[in-house]
Amino acid sequence: MILPILHYPDSRLRTVAKIVETVDDAVRTLVKDMFETMYQAPGIGLAATQIDHHQRIIVIDISEDKNQPLCLINPEIIEKDGEILWEEGCLSVPDYYQCVKRANQVKVRALNEQGETFELEADELLGICIQHEIDHIDGILFVDHLSKLKQKRLLEKTKKANK
Ligand code: NI
Repeated sequence: MILPILHYPDSRLRTVAKIVETVDDAVRTLVKDMFETMYQAPGIGLAATQIDHHQRIIVIDISEDKNQPLCLINPEIIEKDGEILWEEGCLSVPDYYQCVKRANQVKVRALNEQGETFELEADELLGICIQHEIDHIDGILFVDHLSKLKQKRLLEKTKKANK
């Protein structure tokens, strides 16, 4: 099922998501819906927060053929290293792209759809995507990393577009 995506500056995007206690069929159904919603958008990452479900779940697929789905439940960055500047966008902030500075390499620990713990090392686009999506479940948007002036301009542009 394709679910509606919340758009900036919707205050629900500021919700800090709750830990998933049990990875059950309800969670797996939500994950399936999140992948469908992300692929249809189309996007390379989606956090549950963006579809107004406030559980710590993110889905990612950075592959060109959209055949490498990655689901991270309760993801935690356990190591980070280096710095990288990358132009980011977000399904919740349509038609807006800006460079953001993030860690170049991250090591993340999460649960998969079977509820098993796994660790993953990622850099460049995948690492950035993981950091961007983990921000979402903490109620943070990539635009929060920009200068106050850029944020003010974006807010004005968004208000104008919504009139
Ligand atoms: Ni996003």
